[in-house]
Amino acid sequence: MILVAGSANLDFVVRASHIPAPGETVLGREFKTYPGGKGANQAVACARAGGAPTQMLLALGDDLYARPLEESLLGANVKLHIVRDKTQATGTAFICVSDDAENAITVAPGANAVLREGHLPSLEGVTHLLMQLETPIESVTAYAQAARAKGVAVVLNAAPAQSLPAGLLKNIDVLIVNEGELAAIAHNSAHDKSSIAQSLAELDVPCVVVTLGHHGCCARIDGQVLFQPAFDVTPVDTTGAGDTFCGALVAALQHKQAWPQALAAASAAGAMACTRPGAQSSIPSHAEVQVLVAKTTAVAEDKLSALRTFCGFAA
Ligand code: RIB
Repeated sequence: MILVAGSANLDFVVRASHIPAPGETVLGREFKTYPGGKGANQAVACARAGGAPTQMLLALGDDLYARPLEESLLGANVKLHIVRDKTQATGTAFICVSDDAENAITVAPGANAVLREGHLPSLEGVTHLLMQLETPIESVTAYAQAARAKGVAVVLNAAPAQSLPAGLLKNIDVLIVNEGELAAIAHNSAHDKSSIAQSLAELDVPCVVVTLGHHGCCARIDGQVLFQPAFDVTPVDTTGAGDTFCGALVAALQHKQAWPQALAAASAAGAMACTRPGAQSSIPSHAEVQVLVAKTTAVAEDKLSALRTFCGFAA
């Protein structure tokens, strides 16, 4: 069983020609709300990726925003452990999605900030604990320690970017980051491409996966480096694509898939999520992911070599 401990936000999304620069006002177009939050998105992605029984620990306010979040998670068959806080509003995120499918997100954590060490449910039957950084880092650290003590695999998607305390790093089995998050943890510049290879070699975590958007992803798994180029899709909204990758990856690992296959399935799921609007609304089913993976029989050598070079490895 997979336990996700993390955030749930109601996403307030407006589409616009471009994301406003500091001080700029942009006249947007359509506005919609979607269930989101990195934790809840990843829980839905786990559950949709082939029936891994998934539970989630989350904190919600006692308000109207909480309802669609609960409904979306329950609709995906995620069993919920809810901490209900009457003093805080449910978490919200304010998102601008541009015509080139990029986004800018500001989160108001609200109730997500009340999750504490004592809220962790029983780890009986749990094989993987999946967490992010939209809830207090002290609680994330305590949950990782409790999981490690019980032999539960700890997976951390270190998003949004911040440096990690040593007490958390030492209890992580699988770390999933994008370039900026990797740079924040390894304390180097996100613009120095050779730092990806360097950081992969240096980080003292058994498995590190770096997602690289349309380039694909690379991973260092117990000393072996793996590359997975991105699947070709036409993106409309990249919100939640990284979360979909994380959830699908953990579901594949829970099903004991080998790392190369797990990375392929996660990449395909993340790519498909970019082709639909919203966060949880964009997460594909296992069957849809299988179709995309099956269509892409061989990885093109030129893509692989471009990815190796991008990451700072010899082509
Ligand atoms: O990763 C995407 C998510 O980030 C959104 O759903 C938003 O709620 C923020 O948490």
